[in-house]
Amino acid sequence: MVKIEKVVAREVLDSRGFPTVEVELFSGDMRASAIVPSGASTGEGEALELRDGDPSRFAGKGVLKAVQNVEREIAPAINGKEFLRQSVFDDLLRNLDGTPNKAKLGANAILPVSMAFARLQSMIHSKQGFSALALTENISGVFGSQGMTLPVPLMNVFNGGKHADNGIAIQEFMIVPTGFNRFSDSLRAGVEIFHSLKKILTKKGLTTAVGDEGGFAPRISSEDEAGPGSHEKVLTLLLDAIETAGYRAGEDVFLALDCASSEFSKKTGAGVSYQFEGSSRSSAEMTQIYEKWISQYPILSIEDGLAEHDWEGWRILTQRIGKQVQLVGDDLFVTNPEFLKKGIERGVANSILVKLNQIGTLTETLEAMKMAHLSGYTTIISHRSGESEDCFIADLAVATDAGQIKTGSASRSDRLAKYNQLLRLEQALGSRARFKGKGSFPAR
Ligand code: PGA
Ligand code: ZN
Repeated sequence: MVKIEKVVAREVLDSRGFPTVEVELFSGDMRASAIVPSGASTGEGEALELRDGDPSRFAGKGVLKAVQNVEREIAPAINGKEFLRQSVFDDLLRNLDGTPNKAKLGANAILPVSMAFARLQSMIHSKQGFSALALTENISGVFGSQGMTLPVPLMNVFNGGKHADNGIAIQEFMIVPTGFNRFSDSLRAGVEIFHSLKKILTKKGLTTAVGDEGGFAPRISSEDEAGPGSHEKVLTLLLDAIETAGYRAGEDVFLALDCASSEFSKKTGAGVSYQFEGSSRSSAEMTQIYEKWISQYPILSIEDGLAEHDWEGWRILTQRIGKQVQLVGDDLFVTNPEFLKKGIERGVANSILVKLNQIGTLTETLEAMKMAHLSGYTTIISHRSGESEDCFIADLAVATDAGQIKTGSASRSDRLAKYNQLLRLEQALGSRARFKGKGSFPAR
């Protein structure tokens, strides 16, 4: 049993300098806190992020209403009460809100309370002094997970789309160091490749300023919208960086994409069209592009290759290349068990991106993961483009044996905080720590 004795909420700042919510929960001499992240290329089906809309503060992006909802609505309902399980606690939060998408209180009010409760409960139940490992112990077992698998990092070293202003349509170009026995070795390879990419860009006279997730974001074309072949230029740069760092592309290190294609799509009478490299393309044409790329480049995973409304396009995409490559639904599934169920029934995608704040409680996040697990879909725990020093997702990735994590590049401490936490967890787990490398992905 965990008795909540005090609740504190405040407005703090995220990695883009926008306000977000931090919550602290107290029980006896224990204190646990959590900060909620925030997306930019958000899916339409995501739970509501409550912003004040007051133009006189932070250009309308203040979160004082959400803070107030924690203080005035949530705190009175949990203060002085004892809770046995996370699911009971989260059910109370959901009922308090009462809407399907957390529209009344805001997911940014509900989620930090849910996360802080998980931490508090872990600290109270565990004999471990190390709270991250305690969270791992507390959550593991939910679907047979043992809480010992360190995730393969999908490192977003080249940013485009909404996370940059370089005219590149695809949002994330990631390197995936799989050919290693330990997480720390995989991470080291990723970091070395990031540094070698930096040198290559400098030599070419391209800027090495970074985007929201710490990846480089140079303009590789003078046009506003990067034209034909520009995406392949980026893929080639990454292969170059891998080889220059002394690794073998396609053996030690693979590539992954998050196209975030909802952002460059539009609904038309005939379906959905995509504005890509200077022309308008159909779902079938985008599928052909991906087919060509996976035959030419060591691409292991493609996220949101088609848009969130393009279910029929997604079905065909999955039929065409779902056996060869991991197809990840982010905007498509928004960590929502109902959307995922629809995807599983229709044979759409084979993997789900897991973002706590898309759905708004830990319990619902775990439900989506369990459903994915039972249906043979892989899971990737993910950060948001607006992050903080909170590294809950690192603990969650290990606790659930998720197998993969997406938490940015090798710069910006909001991203590295998560990698550092994973290094701590690897050390704390010692000889029990596992790392599955390519085994974390669907067979190819
Ligand atoms: P977001 O981007 O946090 O801006 O939504 C991350 C992603 O699309 O995976
Ligand atoms: Zn995404």
